[in-house]
Amino acid sequence: MNSRKTFIAAILLLLAIPVLANQTLTLHSPDGNQLLTVEQRANGNIFYQLTYKGKTVIAPSAMGLRLKEPAISLTAFNIPFIDSSATDNTWTQPWGEQAVVRNNYKELILHTETKGDKPVRVRIVFRLFNEGLGFRYEFPEQPNLNHFVVDQEGTQFAMTGDHKAFWIPGDFDTNEYAYYTSTLSKVDASGGGFAQEIHAKTSFDKNAVQTPLMMKSADGLYINIHEAALVNYPAMNLVVDKSNFTFTSHLVPDAVGNAAYLQTPARTPWRTINVSDKAANILMSRMILNLNEPAKTNDVSWIHPGKFVGVWWEMHVGISSWDYSGGQVGSQQATKVPHGANTANVKRYIDFAAANGIPAVLVEGWNTGWEDWFGQWKEDVFDFVTPYPDFNVKELSEYAKAKGVKIIMHHETSGSVTNYERWMDTAYRFMKQYGYDAVKTGYVGRIIPRGEHHDGQWMVKHYERVAQKTMNYHIMVDMHEPVRPTGLQRTYPNWLACEAARGNEFNAWSVGNAPDHETILPFTRLMGGPMDYTPGIFKIKMSSYNPAKTEQVHTTLAKQLALYVTMYSPLQMAADLPENYNAHMDAFQFIKDVPVDWTESRVLDAEPGDYIIEARKGKGTDSWFLGAITDENARTVKINPDFLDPNRWYHAVVYRDADDADWKANPEAYMIEKLNVFSGRQISVNLAPGGGCAISFVPFTAEETAAFKKEGAKIMKEYSKKKH
Ligand code: NOJ
Ligand code: CA
Repeated sequence: MNSRKTFIAAILLLLAIPVLANQTLTLHSPDGNQLLTVEQRANGNIFYQLTYKGKTVIAPSAMGLRLKEPAISLTAFNIPFIDSSATDNTWTQPWGEQAVVRNNYKELILHTETKGDKPVRVRIVFRLFNEGLGFRYEFPEQPNLNHFVVDQEGTQFAMTGDHKAFWIPGDFDTNEYAYYTSTLSKVDASGGGFAQEIHAKTSFDKNAVQTPLMMKSADGLYINIHEAALVNYPAMNLVVDKSNFTFTSHLVPDAVGNAAYLQTPARTPWRTINVSDKAANILMSRMILNLNEPAKTNDVSWIHPGKFVGVWWEMHVGISSWDYSGGQVGSQQATKVPHGANTANVKRYIDFAAANGIPAVLVEGWNTGWEDWFGQWKEDVFDFVTPYPDFNVKELSEYAKAKGVKIIMHHETSGSVTNYERWMDTAYRFMKQYGYDAVKTGYVGRIIPRGEHHDGQWMVKHYERVAQKTMNYHIMVDMHEPVRPTGLQRTYPNWLACEAARGNEFNAWSVGNAPDHETILPFTRLMGGPMDYTPGIFKIKMSSYNPAKTEQVHTTLAKQLALYVTMYSPLQMAADLPENYNAHMDAFQFIKDVPVDWTESRVLDAEPGDYIIEARKGKGTDSWFLGAITDENARTVKINPDFLDPNRWYHAVVYRDADDADWKANPEAYMIEKLNVFSGRQISVNLAPGGGCAISFVPFTAEETAAFKKEGAKIMKEYSKKKH
């Protein structure tokens, strides 16, 4: 390292950190807990290492890439110079889990070049936050590299032991697998247990897993590996070598087996490692957001987070169809059922939304093509502008407008993306013509261009084009079956949500989601961004629609309420049917009240796979909302609402499992209790197996406070006596 002295001087001056001898650089996070060590070995290879509070998180791990065109290896370098800097600022989100985000990190840039007479320059950029590490490769404009094709990336993540991992099989096309919990040595992604449920899937290595990958080490570290700002590049899977617990990245290939086509200047996404000794800190990290570029638009006035109902669950439970002729998806001897998206039925949902303050209604199956959309790998299926004869688009948009409700458009592409690309502008103009300002897209099935994958570079660019184009049209978007999110909602604030994991819908027609599923998702899929999980199912057992059915939602009703807090999305569906909500209006009150946009969020306690307790403060209000969920085990949670304003009283409404509730035996039994609480009053709640609890805290009005003064003072005094 030629300019080592300059570097050392600079870094000592700026960051005051020690540099170890022998081609080794070190960098501490702002709070000193994270330590990055970068080491260059004699052959020019670069290794990075990460420790947290003195414990090794990532043992020395290799870096670099292999190019196909030109056929060179970017692994052994000279390092002519190094830059370092520190950044600490804040920025405001238009919507999110917290309004103001602090971006505080130290940066180290290795300006490297390959050895030999035609050196290729690569910048390796590290950003070290209090929450963990991000790094990426950058390819500046240069004489010896212009267009190039990436064959594979050699980035490694060496774990220190046989950690417990929450993983899904590595795959080029789907992230809708159920989670496995096992040690790394027990990873076996060949399982195939989901063969019938996931339509397009391409697993490739029995030792491969997807990110976000959540792990827990025997010495109590919580470690999460993912990526940030996945743009113009394929997604990264991780292949584990079980002999040393080292992951090597494996990029999703394209139709001819290449990973990425780039032209300088170019850069890879950030590779991210979140680490803490508290699981709650993993959930509260905003590092991935911070590693994304700021919003591409300053005008966010047209972007509005919100809840919605939809002509949707009724298709998934099999009582109506997308298809005008009444056929049911995937069923060979289809029993005909009514077409769901008919004008009268849509009006029924609009009425329900209007009556309950729900701002929007999603309508699926409104357009022609559903007779022949599934499994054919057919190119021209939908045109996105031709309604079925019983869906009166003009009448419905006027009806919705008069009721103050928005209809959400649905664009299922059936994986035929070439077709969608041809129709996008026309389809978005059609939406604007009829007053739609949000679209749910979908990519069920094998991709066209044939041979491309959902998670390859071509599709990654497509999803970004959709985000950009909808932004140009002032349309909000929710994508189903896209690549896993990597924080791009910061750059495209109209890209409100994605599915990109196994949603609640699997509970309607498959073995479903195990009771621990929702305690894992925030530690995995949601690390990258909001999920359209579609919570709020009140009718838990599918036998209520068809006695022959054994499928069911694997939670209690109360847990479905808690998900509105624990599963963050600015777009939250109240997914069940109006009649099921009308039968439980007291419980539905929580869905009506709970916001989707927050000033502040606090994870009170959490353990992946076991439980999550989280409280959030609604934006523009002084009200707080709490969600507590458990896995298959019953649990008593003690909530200290110390997040509340200590000088105020609050009306707390506790929606909890009834004493005899159980996700399997008695899932719909709940209780609602009303209490007056203040910040010092502990609330103890029993969660049933597969259960949960939701609490709203609304501050007393001035009049209520005055009327309660004497009694309140007395209660507070008693509590403070108890404490001492
Ligand atoms: C799968 C999506 O996840 C679901 O929400 C949608 O209803 C179907 N595809 C049909 O597009
Ligand atoms: Ca889906």
